[in-house]
Amino acid sequence: MRNKICEELNNSDIGKSVDLCGWVDRRRDHGGVIFIDLRDHSGFLQLTFNPEVGESIFKKAESLRNETVIFVSGIIQKRPIESINRNLNSGELELHVKKLQIINQIKGNLPFPVSIHDYENTREDLRIKYRYLDLRRGRLINNLKIRHKIIKTARKFLDCNGFTEVETPLLTKSTPEGARDFLVPSRLAKGGFFALPQSPQLFKQLLMIGGLNNYYQIAKCFRDEDLRADRQPEFTQLDIEMSFITEEQIIDFNESLIKNIWKEVLGITLDANFPKMTWKEAMDNYGTDRPDTRYEMLLKNVGDILGNIGFNIFTKAIENGGAIKCITVKDGNSKISNVRIKPGGDIFQVAQDAGAGGLAYIRVKENDIETIGVIKNNLNNSLIQKLLDVTSAENGDLILLGAGQTDIVNQSLDRVRQYIAKDLKLINKNDKWNFLWITDFPMFEKNEDENRLEALHHPFCSPKNINFDESINSKNLLEKSIAQAYDLVLNGLELGGGSIRIHDSILQKEIFKTVGLTEEEIQEKFGFLIEALEMGAPPHGGIAFGIDRLTMLILGEESIRETIAFPKNQQSKCLLTDAPSNVSDSQLKELDIEITNEE
Ligand code: AMO
Repeated sequence: MRNKICEELNNSDIGKSVDLCGWVDRRRDHGGVIFIDLRDHSGFLQLTFNPEVGESIFKKAESLRNETVIFVSGIIQKRPIESINRNLNSGELELHVKKLQIINQIKGNLPFPVSIHDYENTREDLRIKYRYLDLRRGRLINNLKIRHKIIKTARKFLDCNGFTEVETPLLTKSTPEGARDFLVPSRLAKGGFFALPQSPQLFKQLLMIGGLNNYYQIAKCFRDEDLRADRQPEFTQLDIEMSFITEEQIIDFNESLIKNIWKEVLGITLDANFPKMTWKEAMDNYGTDRPDTRYEMLLKNVGDILGNIGFNIFTKAIENGGAIKCITVKDGNSKISNVRIKPGGDIFQVAQDAGAGGLAYIRVKENDIETIGVIKNNLNNSLIQKLLDVTSAENGDLILLGAGQTDIVNQSLDRVRQYIAKDLKLINKNDKWNFLWITDFPMFEKNEDENRLEALHHPFCSPKNINFDESINSKNLLEKSIAQAYDLVLNGLELGGGSIRIHDSILQKEIFKTVGLTEEEIQEKFGFLIEALEMGAPPHGGIAFGIDRLTMLILGEESIRETIAFPKNQQSKCLLTDAPSNVSDSQLKELDIEITNEE
């Protein structure tokens, strides 16, 4: 069909006859000559149709619409100097067409222009619905190629280090990773449901119990949760598990894996060890367990200084066991107006959306401060000095304060900090890759709504430094213990997370009980795991990285949807195939399922 592709052509082809195939990218008619940009998977070439080519070909060329699939044959010529396109590899060349064949004429209207790579002005839903057209624009194909390279590099690295790739089931039982399950009804076991895996967690542990030693998988995972730019209901993990291993060893090994990916894919050598920060340090200083360390504006606790100044919101926060914390925006007085931090302002809104009742502020001025009356009237010079010492605020700086329940204060100041950093462009572009290990997570967190403890990661993480025989009689000790868990954070995004697992069946049962499961529930949900742990489970641990997120960060994309060939939209729908969709009555009948309140 073709004997060349656009990208291969160079000056040595001038005068040669070539056959090419591809799409009409754009057509321009210029004073009796028709120019067409031919696009194939490799690049572009200008096709030139002179009237001498013959009326019928010329007419055909005149009728070509964008995205029509064509075959052309002709002679490669050098373009006139004034029309050379320096942006293209083949920009010095053109094909003087002698033969034109329309392989597939487009019918109907294009939903958006393909040749104009105008991503911002093409609605994302349209880009997802007509993904094959969006792919033709090149950027997504490039992203998929980088994704492929990342996976290939990881596979090579793991293969060379004695790992075996194993596929684990997709039709399985629920694994608690904190999200809702996608359920699949069983036809043969009526009334029974499979759950699609939220991760291969339990199967990889069973592989360790089976003596595999080192496992990995490029694993599809499914979580029915609210979507964000870095979340999809169906995503891919690079899932890893190792036996007879310590937390330090897993961290070191996986750091080498990540460094290898950066080297192979981006040509970047990451020399230094990735810094480590405990969960508590992260929460205290950044208000989040995935801090972006590319800029400062750390959270400072000022409860001691402002708790007693008689401002009701501050007093209440401390009385109720909460916190008063703040961030300092350097030169914030000139950069951020009052309108933005008062009710109705964008920064105020960010805090409120994160759950805060509001934001208080103090503007530091030469030998004075500007703030709301109640605070101003009750702050004496010594308190002001203390505040300036703790916050390192200077003349011209703006202090933004949050007070209330500690987790809400943390969450809202974290969001405000991120918002302002973006808004004021505080992210140092040279500081591109701020990796950070977060360690020492608490085993449990309180689910306030249901007044019970939940596993912060998942209930298979092993507690740290705990003498288990003692703890078993001391519920409190177990509840307060720290997990041997770790997350890898990059530029404020959680890239991966893992832990050393529990390999003792009795401890595993205790943890299940701590998160509120009864003996019967443990047996019903995790009987198979407890039994396996009883039969000689080795110490083991592992980690999983989000491949979509990793690709997004490497590419500098804003959303993981740009790294996935056929993503779901923000409402978890596949717009291309129109899924989820209704199924036939006979299918439902076979499954013994009745839809009762269809809307
Ligand atoms: P975790 O739940 O932290 O750990 O998931 C690991 C990594 O998977 C990615 N990720 C997601 N990516 C896109 N969309 C989502 N909805 C989504 N959810 C998670 C993140 C995250 O860091 N079984 C454990 C791992 C282990 O303990 O070994 C687990 O799944 O990058």
